[in-house]
Formats: sequence, C-alpha cells, structure tokens
Amino acid sequence: MNSKLIAPSILAADFGNLQRDVEMVNNSEADWFHIDVMDGHFVPNISYGMPVIQAIKKHATKPLDVHLMIEKPERYIEEFAKVGADIITVHYESTVHLHRTLTQIEDAGCKAGVVLNLTTPVSVLEDILPKCYMVLLMSINPGFGGQKFEEMTYNKIKKLRKMANDQGLKTRIEIDGGVTDKNAKALIDAGADVLVAGSYIFKSSNQPETIKDLKRLINS
Ligand code: DX5
Ligand code: ZN
Repeated sequence: MNSKLIAPSILAADFGNLQRDVEMVNNSEADWFHIDVMDGHFVPNISYGMPVIQAIKKHATKPLDVHLMIEKPERYIEEFAKVGADIITVHYESTVHLHRTLTQIEDAGCKAGVVLNLTTPVSVLEDILPKCYMVLLMSINPGFGGQKFEEMTYNKIKKLRKMANDQGLKTRIEIDGGVTDKNAKALIDAGADVLVAGSYIFKSSNQPETIKDLKRLINS
C-alpha cells in the first residue's frame, strides 16, 4: 500500500506572499506542492505558468506536482520539466496521443500521470494504466478552487482501484477538488492515496495545523 499524501494547492495561496506560503508548506507535514496550470482554453480560467513555477521551485523543498489544464500539453512538457516539475499530469481530454505524451514526460525526467474530468469514465484508462505513475480524478469541474465536491467521485475511485489491483499495479490515485476534513477519510477508504486541498488549507486560520490534522485523519 502506498503512503497517504497531502498536496496543498498553490492556487489558493496568497500570491503577494508566495515565498511565505511556500515556506509554510515546506515546514508543514504536507508532502507535495500541487500546482495548477490553466490556459483559458481547456478550462475557463488562466492561472500561472513557467516563471511562477520556477520561483516556487527556488524555495520548495518538496516535490512539485504540476497539473496541466491546458490544450495540447505536449507543446510544453520539456519547459515544465526544466522549471522544476517533478510530477506532470495531463488531462486525458486534452491530448490526442496520450501514450506519446506520457513518454515525453518520462523522457523529460518526470513522473507521468493522467487526469480525468468528472464525466470521463475510468474505463478509458484500462490499457494505459501500467504507464501511469498516478491517476488524478477530478472531483469538481476544473478551473477554479473553492467548488463543491461531487459525490460521484467515490464510485470512480473504487472502480479505478479495482482496475489497478486486477492489473497488479500500485498506481497512485489523487483526488482534486472540494477536499475537506469531511470527505478526506472516506476518499482514502475508497482507494485514493493523494489528496489535493486548496481552499480548505489556505483559508484556515492555522494552515500547518490544518495540514497536520488532515494527515492524521487520512493515516488513521
Ligand atoms: C481546480 C484545481 C484544483 C483546485 C482545488 O481546477 O485543479 O487543484 O486548486 O481547490 P479546492 O481544494 O479549493 O477545491
Ligand atoms: Zn489541480
């Protein structure tokens, strides 16, 4: 069994105090930095790109988990690797030759993962699963933080964990969107092992404590 991880989403950080928030994550019990890249085409929002990731990398002491919500991500893989991505996930819906794009990520020296939108069934991963270090299941429609968690996610996690088990794989399953202390444990029990949390962590009054509590909850 994989260890259970927390990846705070930098999208919810205070960009005017980015170094402070990066250091908060460094000094907390969090495991990865979750970094959302949005292009205004694949999702109806624009976030940040390479220069901001490079700035985060300068201070971060934990892996950068870069979630690309961009059309044709294959155009930029090497650049994201160069500015410090450790894990790169691409949406199944955003790239035509998924196998080639995952190979490109591996060749750039990163761990490769696939993201599924809410209504994309996990069955599309059947053949590509052995090549995925991780699968990220969206539990909201991507584009914005602070949205409500969609309950249909539980079933998708269970199906995906069964698919991985049947293939003898320990694929990491990451959940992104609306994660709080109310659903964290149930997500882990369903078969997830990495939880992204943005608003829940950054809007709390004691962020390191919130991370610590989440970690305790998912490892209990
Ligand atoms: C949204 C992003 C998420 C977002 C999650 O498209 O992929 O990572 O930051 O934010 P919360 O945890 O606030 O739902
Ligand atoms: Zn994300």
